[in-house]
Amino acid sequence: MPEGVVHNAPMIAMPSRLPQVGTTIFTVMSRLAAEHGAINLSQGFPDFSPPVRLVERVAHHMAEGRNQYALMAGALPLREAIAAKVESLYGARYDVEAEITVTAGATQAIFTAVAACVRPADEVIVFAPVYDSYGPAIELAGGRIVHATLRFPDYRPDWDEVGALISPKTRMIIVNTPHNPTGTVWSAADVATLAALVHGTDIVVVSDEVYEHMVFDGARHESIARHAGLRERSFIISSFGKTYHCTGWKIAYCLAPRELMAEFRKAHQFIVFAVNHPMQLAIADFMAEAPDFAPGLARFYQDKRDFFRRQFEGSRFRLLPCTGTYFQLAAYDAIADEPDTEFARRLTVEHGVAAIPISVFYPGGDDHHVVRFCFAKNEATLVAAGERLRAV
Ligand SMILES: Cc1ncc(COP(=O)(O)O)c(C=O)c1O
Repeated sequence: MPEGVVHNAPMIAMPSRLPQVGTTIFTVMSRLAAEHGAINLSQGFPDFSPPVRLVERVAHHMAEGRNQYALMAGALPLREAIAAKVESLYGARYDVEAEITVTAGATQAIFTAVAACVRPADEVIVFAPVYDSYGPAIELAGGRIVHATLRFPDYRPDWDEVGALISPKTRMIIVNTPHNPTGTVWSAADVATLAALVHGTDIVVVSDEVYEHMVFDGARHESIARHAGLRERSFIISSFGKTYHCTGWKIAYCLAPRELMAEFRKAHQFIVFAVNHPMQLAIADFMAEAPDFAPGLARFYQDKRDFFRRQFEGSRFRLLPCTGTYFQLAAYDAIADEPDTEFARRLTVEHGVAAIPISVFYPGGDDHHVVRFCFAKNEATLVAAGERLRAV
């Protein structure tokens, strides 16, 4: 550009591929929380550390020189550990060579599964309130997002509605249990109904199970892996970030029958190729050494849920049931009548606690005056947040 020439207009015409997308609500709320010194219960990450032993194993593998590319499908010891875990928990056998791929977080696994399967004009059914990465992945592939509704206040799927939304254009259904943001968990009957609906079709299922180990009150996680009829058409995705308190490492995995996984890997190898090598090896070691850690997470987070819920005693918030994940929903209809986005902003700025408004997870912005708190926090953080929330 010649000196002195100021260009306000873009020099090239570049219509956005994602015109509706701005900065995610998680970034917005975390930034607002930082600016106002608020306790950040908005974004979903722990404020405590991964197990010391796991971190030690990362250092070990780095020192041992395992610092170059891992295998494209993932380090073999980690794929072996995943196969053993999935078989012992869900009774499903996945082939280590052909049916398991380690990914750079669940986000990448979801993106890759969509990129590998969805063609322009294909329809993909998602359930709203919907985790925010699904829509853009579908749109970038040229697909059309079709929303089924998880209706307030119990957020149960309406299977008649889902049945009516399925058409010859439906390429994929993306499901998520335990569910972010609502903290609900699907039953075996839900999974069986889904299986019946897709039976005899060519619909692919993507099952986002990143909170698989956070199911409370004695209920069991209804992994799609338990269901033979669904397993054969599904990508099942879980995240080590959630399970081992290391969301910043961005390591997850995807399971799928070999034909589907072959397509997944065609895309995976050009989107990310391979994932952080020493961390994969460390997770594999830790899974072998501490097999009870992941199943123990249900008790760990159930105790946190109960502790956090007790902080609301005497508050004007109305807590909704939380049967899984590390998110607690709270209705504020007894406190204010304003939109949830405004309430969440004011809660952060005026009361010092950041939360996520639920309307942002609905395509039409449905607002039931509900916000989401993340309770994956130390007790001191939850106590301090509770003091502030009781004063609202
Ligand atoms: C439902 C759901 N899916 C996927 C992800 C992304 O997981 P990862 O950090 O492994 O990409 C999250 C993270 O919050 C989530 O809540």
